[in-house]
Amino acid sequence: MPSTLTRMLAGDEATAALGAALAPLLSPGLSIHLCGPLGAGKTTLVRALLRALGERGRVRSPTFTLVEPYRAGGLELAHLDLYRFDGASEWVDAGFDEYLGGDTVSLIEWPERAAPLLPMPDLRIDIAVEGDARRATLVAHGARGDALLAALQARGTATEPPA
Ligand SMILES: Nc1ncnc2c1ncn2[C@@H]1O[C@H](COP(=O)(O)OP(=O)(O)OP(=O)(O)O)[C@@H](O)[C@H]1O
Ligand SMILES: [Mg+2]
Repeated sequence: MPSTLTRMLAGDEATAALGAALAPLLSPGLSIHLCGPLGAGKTTLVRALLRALGERGRVRSPTFTLVEPYRAGGLELAHLDLYRFDGASEWVDAGFDEYLGGDTVSLIEWPERAAPLLPMPDLRIDIAVEGDARRATLVAHGARGDALLAALQARGTATEPPA
């Protein structure tokens, strides 16, 4: 059974804090899927993660460019947003497989748009809108994801017990 961690995120700062907390736990090749409706806070989380890694440039949503590459904190990262995909085959057409299976850390918004072509990520972050707040559910797949969640929990502030 995958291990799971749930956090209530009371506002932008809490979403950003979760992103920043993930930053030091990343390692080459890790893949993270970010799921949730439009405006859930996926880009907000990734922006804070990149800032925590030391990225000083503008962190734009990849809504139109589909991918924004970064080199920060000793890592290569690719921030992808597949919302505008018409079908999973666009994943192949766009050549995005190059971001998987190597050293690049992939942070993918709207991964469901490329299902079933995308492999299971190490970590899936589901963000649900609950009134003015958000609920983040982090689901680990496999040993790397488990280790990441355990480390996050060990550092954690305001961490609820695992679901
Ligand atoms: N925990 C939170 N509580 C309330 N509002 C939040 C929270 N986290 C982020 N927000 C706000 O929600 C919005 C999230 O926008 P963002 O672009 O990050 O969403 P997204 O999930 O990337 O959307 P899209 O699917 O369009 O890419 C921002 O206005 C942000 O300030
Ligand atoms: Mg976004």
